[in-house]
Amino acid sequence: MTPAHAPLGVYVHWPFCKSKCPYCDFNSHVREGIDQERWRKALLTELEHAAREAPGRQVETMFFGGGTPSLMDPATVAVLIERVKDLWDVARDLEITLEANPTSVEAGRFAALAQAGVNRLSLGVQSLEDAALHFLGREHSADQALAAIDTARRHFARYSFDLIYARPGQTVTCWADELERALALAGEHLSLYQLTLESGTRSFTVHARGTFAMPGEEQAAEMFEFTQARLAAAGLPAYEVSNHARPGAACRHNLIYWRYQDYVGVGPGAHGRFAEINAKRATRRMSGPEA
Ligand SMILES: C[S@@+](CC[C@H](N)C(=O)[O-])C[C@H]1O[C@@H](n2cnc3c(N)ncnc32)[C@H](O)[C@@H]1O
Ligand code: SF4
Repeated sequence: MTPAHAPLGVYVHWPFCKSKCPYCDFNSHVREGIDQERWRKALLTELEHAAREAPGRQVETMFFGGGTPSLMDPATVAVLIERVKDLWDVARDLEITLEANPTSVEAGRFAALAQAGVNRLSLGVQSLEDAALHFLGREHSADQALAAIDTARRHFARYSFDLIYARPGQTVTCWADELERALALAGEHLSLYQLTLESGTRSFTVHARGTFAMPGEEQAAEMFEFTQARLAAAGLPAYEVSNHARPGAACRHNLIYWRYQDYVGVGPGAHGRFAEINAKRATRRMSGPEA
């Protein structure tokens, strides 16, 4: 396939969160005030730049990641989607995913986000247990997560949620029980990540002081194997290490990364990788939001 015919994904990074979770090493920042109008203009400018870098393609997927893109003004999301449609040809079944946190305030915006053109929601539930949510430093409760899943189901034909397992003190039996409850709530897709202690995070430092112990390798491996088998039996086999979907329901944007296909990335720290005549070009935007 020549570059001009290769399909393209568009990644948009929103770098802000209400608070920083102790385990997270994503490019996410907490700021007092965010000038939404200024951000809208900056992201539009970067999109225009990306369209000059990778012109003449057909865009198949868009992905709003973060940070917490459910904190974006839905009008900004709408304008960015419209600008993508102006700058490139787009597939008739353009997949537009947005990552959301399940607080009640954000769930209250799902209707507006769907109206803006988002057609797939990925919810960061992380756990269905309050004690675990507290340990993970999350801003939402298990009840709020359940309510947000229900709201997502009403507004989006396609929704997924994330859980983090292999947490301190979690046994295979505890995880099996939580996973069963998750399966009863799941739509077509689930993202199931093992907790990773990333160097430089608060969790990493606190763990180094001996405040909590992580599950051993054997136990974590057992949880992983159990997860793979249970999800396959439930009709959502793994399509990569941590993501599971019903047949045909994989996140197409995610598959672009795993298949070494082409995407552009806009917003702080976003990566892009796309074919030119004789090579692939990799791009990375500056990480600091102010820069
Ligand atoms: C870009 S992040 C977060 C999206 C959204 N801000 C949220 O927190 O719900 C995507 C997902 O990565 C997972 N994740 C982030 N840091 C992790 C870590 N250290 N170990 C395991 N999973 C992690 C979480 O499940 C999270 O929902
Ligand atoms: S896990 Fe999500 S909400 Fe928490 S700091 Fe990272 S990006 Fe923000």
